Parts: sequence; structure tokens; C-alpha cells
Amino acid sequence: MLSPDQVPQGWSDIATVYEKAFEKLTSQFSREALGQLGLEPDESVLDVAAGTGSFSIAAARAGGDVLATDFAPGMIKRLQHRIAEEGLENIRTQIMDGQNLEIEDASYDVAASIVGVIFFPDIAKGLSELKRVLKPGGRCAVVCWGEMEKFEMMAYLKKSIATAVPEFEMPTQLPVWARLLGHEQLEQMMNEAGFKNVKVTNKIGKLEMESPQGFWNDFTCSAPPLAKLFEALGEENTRITGEVFTELVMSNCKNGVPCLTSEACIGIGEA
Ligand SMILES: C[S@@+](CC[C@H](N)C(=O)[O-])C[C@H]1O[C@@H](n2cnc3c(N)ncnc32)[C@H](O)[C@@H]1O
Repeated sequence: MLSPDQVPQGWSDIATVYEKAFEKLTSQFSREALGQLGLEPDESVLDVAAGTGSFSIAAARAGGDVLATDFAPGMIKRLQHRIAEEGLENIRTQIMDGQNLEIEDASYDVAASIVGVIFFPDIAKGLSELKRVLKPGGRCAVVCWGEMEKFEMMAYLKKSIATAVPEFEMPTQLPVWARLLGHEQLEQMMNEAGFKNVKVTNKIGKLEMESPQGFWNDFTCSAPPLAKLFEALGEENTRITGEVFTELVMSNCKNGVPCLTSEACIGIGEA
């Protein structure tokens, strides 16, 4: 059975909160990926699982001719709103499943999927689709999460649950997004998909927040990957877990700015 982060509805409903709570983090990886891809003005760019557009918007600002795709209509609608607000004329959007791109072979110069392909039921198919639509020599960026221990959001969440609700049994099943995790696995899967000259670098991203309590409120209602966990915890336990989470973030706060760091792996390959 598919989990809430593998169906369009799971993401569609939370697009605005996702943009507010998480895009500050993913946009750091998008900017890094874009820099490594060395995008030239007027190159054609495909963003797969674009979400609210962290990569697409950066690529369009850099002069690319961008097609942003995502399977969640709510994400695409939010992105269209941003495109109109900024008056960008070089991004189109299309609702599309990244495992079956409705795009001709060898038609793009650059493609990217920023913490997107990691959610696909068939990750290998998603990667081979990215490769298929690239022109020979075209460049691709795929971003996944890095070492689990460096994912503070998840580490703090686990610690908070263990403190606030010690009797709660954490699910033992591997989260969907952890099926493709870390440097070696990304390199291997991109090679298996047929990309050449694959290079993976790691980047630590910082999620700075105005208030940990505000972040917690957004987090609990806008993270499809954790929807089942919060449902199993229940309302009251989620609330008391939030109090511990908030204290933990505040006690580790440097320079007065509450912040959570996490590591991503950025894989660049050629078609
Ligand atoms: C964590 S968000 C990342 C969004 C964006 N790339 C970013 O950098 O912020 C994951 C995105 O993957 C999309 N997604 C998940 N499965 C998908 C699929 N099979 N096809 C297309 N998009 C998918 C979701 O709708 C969501 O927008």
C-alpha cells in the first residue's frame, strides 16, 4: 500500500505550509545543484517533483527555459501563483507522474529532482525517466538526504517522542524517503540508471525558524512523510511531544536563532 507521501493528495493539501516551513531548506540544495549543473541562459530545464518550485524558480531566474512538473495539483497551483506574482515568463508547469514522464526522449539540456524521486514507489524508474528525456551529454541533478544522524529534525523528533511518550513504540519500518539515502547509494543508483561521470557531494542545510513552536505546528500538519506517525501518536501526545521538541531546539540554539541542520547528497550525472 502507498503511504501519504506517495499519493498526490498527501502533498496537494499542504502546498502553502510546505513552502513556508520547508522550502527554505530545500532551496539551499536547489541553489547548490543549479550551481554545479552550470546552467547556461536559454537551456531547457526539466524539474521533476518540483513541489512549490525551489529549483524551477531558481533555474528560471538564471535564464533557463523551465518545465516544472509534479503529480500533486495543489503543488502546481501554488507554483503557478508564485510564477505569476514574480512575472516569470520562462516557466511552464504540468501535472505529471515522475515515473512516466509525458515527454519525448532526448529533449532537455538539464533535469533535476530535488528530494523528489526518493518518494517514488519505483525510484529506479524515476531515475531512468530523468535520463531518457535528457539530450546526449545533458546534465542531471538528483538530491536525496544524507546520513540519518545528521538529520536533526528527525533526531530531535525521535528524542522528543522518547521523552514525552516513553511507552510509544516507534515504527520499525524504513521511511519511504530513506530507501535512497546517502552518498554511496545515490552514486550507485545514478550509475545503474545509466548516467555517466556521476559525482556526489554532500551539503549541510540550515532550517532557521522564527519560532520552534510555530515550526512544530506547521511540521505536524504539513509533512506527509510523518502523517502516519502523528496519527498514531494522537493529538495529546503530539502536543506534549511538541513541548519537548521546542525546548530541545531552543536549548541547542546558537546565536539566538533557532535552527535545525540536515545533510543532503547532491548527485550530478550526464546522459
Ligand atoms: C519534499 S517535496 C520536494 C519538492 C521540491 N522539489 C523542493 O525542492 O522543495 C516532494 C515532492 O515530490 C512530489 N512527488 C512525490 N511523488 C511523485 C511522483 N510519483 N511524481 C511526481 N511528483 C511526485 C510531491 O508532490 C512533492 O511536491
